[in-house]
Amino acid sequence: MFAQNCSVCHGPAGDGTTQGPPLVDIIYEPNHHADAAFILAARNGVRAHHWRFGDMPPVPGVTDEIVLEIVGYIRWLQRQVGIG
Ligand code: HEC
Repeated sequence: MFAQNCSVCHGPAGDGTTQGPPLVDIIYEPNHHADAAFILAARNGVRAHHWRFGDMPPVPGVTDEIVLEIVGYIRWLQRQVGIG
């Protein structure tokens, strides 16, 4: 699900692209961006504030349940590098 909906901007391993920031980054650790922040991001999009990639548009067609599964994957990636 991550590969299909998020990796075009956030990178195949959550490591970022020219279109969007890495999610495997200390900024997005669970204490700073809780799981709800991911649901809101997919639902409503994000106004650029941490980076200079521009705004994130809402991601159509992903339910909250799907986003939570994606969050599980991102948290796992984060733990691999000692975040969270
Ligand atoms: C079209 C490109 C694009 C796609 C697709 C995309 N994002 Fe983003 N996302 C961005 C950009 C750019 C930002 C950085 C905004 C900023 O400057 O803080 C961002 C930020 C975020 C944030 C941080 C929100 C916050 O509160 O700061 C989360 C979480 C996130 N994305 C999750 C996702 C997930 C999950 C998906 C897939 C369902 C996804 N993104 C798909 C471009 C994208």
